[in-house]
Amino acid sequence: MRAQLDSYFGVLTEAGATRSTDRYQRALERCLERLRDVMPIVGLRNPKIGRPDLTWNYCGPFDWVVSFQSGQLWLALQLTGEPIFLNAARARRPIFRQILQNRHARDHDLGFQFSLSCVADWLMTSSPEARELGLRAAEALLARFHEEGQYLQAWNPRTTHGGSRAEFVAGRVIADTMQNLALLYWAHQETGHADFRDAALAHAATTARHLVRSDGTSYHTFVFDTVSGAPLRGETHQGFADESCWSRGQAWMIHGFAQCALTTGDKEALDIARRLAAKAEALMGQDPVPVWDYCITEDTPAYRDSSAGAIMAAGVYIIASLTTGAEAARWNAFGDRLLDGLLTTCDLTTNPAAHGLLDHGAAHVKAGFTDTMLPYGDYYFMEALMRSLGHTQFFW
Ligand code: GLY
Repeated sequence: MRAQLDSYFGVLTEAGATRSTDRYQRALERCLERLRDVMPIVGLRNPKIGRPDLTWNYCGPFDWVVSFQSGQLWLALQLTGEPIFLNAARARRPIFRQILQNRHARDHDLGFQFSLSCVADWLMTSSPEARELGLRAAEALLARFHEEGQYLQAWNPRTTHGGSRAEFVAGRVIADTMQNLALLYWAHQETGHADFRDAALAHAATTARHLVRSDGTSYHTFVFDTVSGAPLRGETHQGFADESCWSRGQAWMIHGFAQCALTTGDKEALDIARRLAAKAEALMGQDPVPVWDYCITEDTPAYRDSSAGAIMAAGVYIIASLTTGAEAARWNAFGDRLLDGLLTTCDLTTNPAAHGLLDHGAAHVKAGFTDTMLPYGDYYFMEALMRSLGHTQFFW
């Protein structure tokens, strides 16, 4: 088992200066404490969204969020080596077997779901069954590749509850999918089959061409002709407007392109990640935490989205790790600024009543899900804290 037991109280930067990181080390220790405390309460359930009393609402096994609890547990195992985290993470494996057995549940989120569960298990424990499940998930993700359009289809025409949304999902590419490519890169590394890598590279190129705007902002989704693959139009789903910039979508792309650059060494992916991150930084101004959409009008409620801040922080530290000298210092400083904003305004690890780590997330503002704990905010908060401290072993 690979366990990183080191404690970091200061990280030597490229420029030779020492960043003060003890605040992040202490926060990470509180995250571990919180995970230990709530483990008997959460059990095998899947946190979906916070309640006003800072406990969780839970969801069934076919939800895109089901791996964020296990992702935190695998990170905790890596940090501590404590069997309690291994047992809790491993006990969740049946959830992921179930996803593979339900065709309506298998969508582009297989990447989130399996990287942070079965791939993590394989990397940490060399479990052959975990590897097998991860590869089956990667095959199912690869099967979503649309040859004419050169993209991975995001959602399914039927929901797991039997509802139809064929018209809405057809030909639609979404920013979030950039996070799911890691499963394909991993499957390529494991098997040597070029199809996995080629589909991931092609999807990233399509995303770069059509979802990233020339000013460094991004569309949440983009629609393609389902037969010819011709690009049609950008549209939003969770953002303020079609031409606006949904902050979590921008964060998914920053982390996703940085992740691609880290895995493949692709300089163009790194440049796109830089451009998206610099634009988000400019749009944030002095805000400690990103607003849910960078282009809302003045009469629109300016809910914050702590999950966007956490995802972006983790991505920005990846960019820092791929750059040197003054540029690395600049990205580390932006990552630190994002973490400081979260720690100052959203940190729940000092509130003993809370079951999660971060407050003030915005799941879907127009659907009324605002100002709440979110399991993905929590997972990326831990990842960002670890990256800020120099950890390099993750599951993507
Ligand atoms: N991937 C779904 C979301 O970010 O809400």
